[in-house]
Amino acid sequence: MILLGVNIDHGATLRQARYRDAEGNPGGGVEPDPVALAERARLAGADGITVHLREDRRHIQERDVWRLRESVRARLNLEMACTQAMVDFALRLRPEAVCVVPENRAEVTTEGGLDVVGGRERVKACVAAMRGAGIEASLFIDPDPEQVELSAELGAPVVELHTGAYANAFWGPAGAGEFERLRAGAERAHGLGIKVNAGHGINYVNIAQVRTLPHLHELNIGHSILSRALFTGIEEAVREMKARMNP
Ligand code: PXP
Repeated sequence: MILLGVNIDHGATLRQARYRDAEGNPGGGVEPDPVALAERARLAGADGITVHLREDRRHIQERDVWRLRESVRARLNLEMACTQAMVDFALRLRPEAVCVVPENRAEVTTEGGLDVVGGRERVKACVAAMRGAGIEASLFIDPDPEQVELSAELGAPVVELHTGAYANAFWGPAGAGEFERLRAGAERAHGLGIKVNAGHGINYVNIAQVRTLPHLHELNIGHSILSRALFTGIEEAVREMKARMNP
């Protein structure tokens, strides 16, 4: 069984589009509430909830994360940049897992994998801090051999393979090659004893192929599920994705 982590960031994106300056929710008119979405996703079978607390706070806010922690009984995966401020926040929050991601203010969403090779010492310190607190740390990396190998060397128990390049290439001639890169990356990570997660750009169509990647433990999926939820509700969107992941 491949597990599903539902990324609810885009629920918060929709709220922030109208209520960026709202303090709390006076009168109950501020919607949608990403925490309520998370609870419904959990009840529909999500194995975990994922949020990315970005430095620019463009979608998920700190108070969302605390409310999630306090009120939703789901495995919480905090995506975070490799900064001291985020390490400190994670140590206070104590999520079950963190996923270390690169962050670039100009990007629309997380566009490339973490450069473990270039940021070696910082990433190593981040992984060690999480390990010391009993928080499982994954590194969000492109499926390149040197990134996978260094992730193992730095003691990361999990990698999340970035499926964005594959998703973008899916309908074009480069799709097969990108899938092969992911397949090889998953094999290499598994061979080094690391758990293999994947995420970014996974949708109801490409899941038919993504699910065939070897050694997959968990997929983190946000945009496609939240988009479908506009038509079907979050429960049906989660159930349908889970059915396609594990037919
Ligand atoms: N995994 C990671 C590490 C991410 O940063 C994101 C969001 O960019 C996702 C998964 C989910 O991507 P999507 O919203 O495209 O499903």
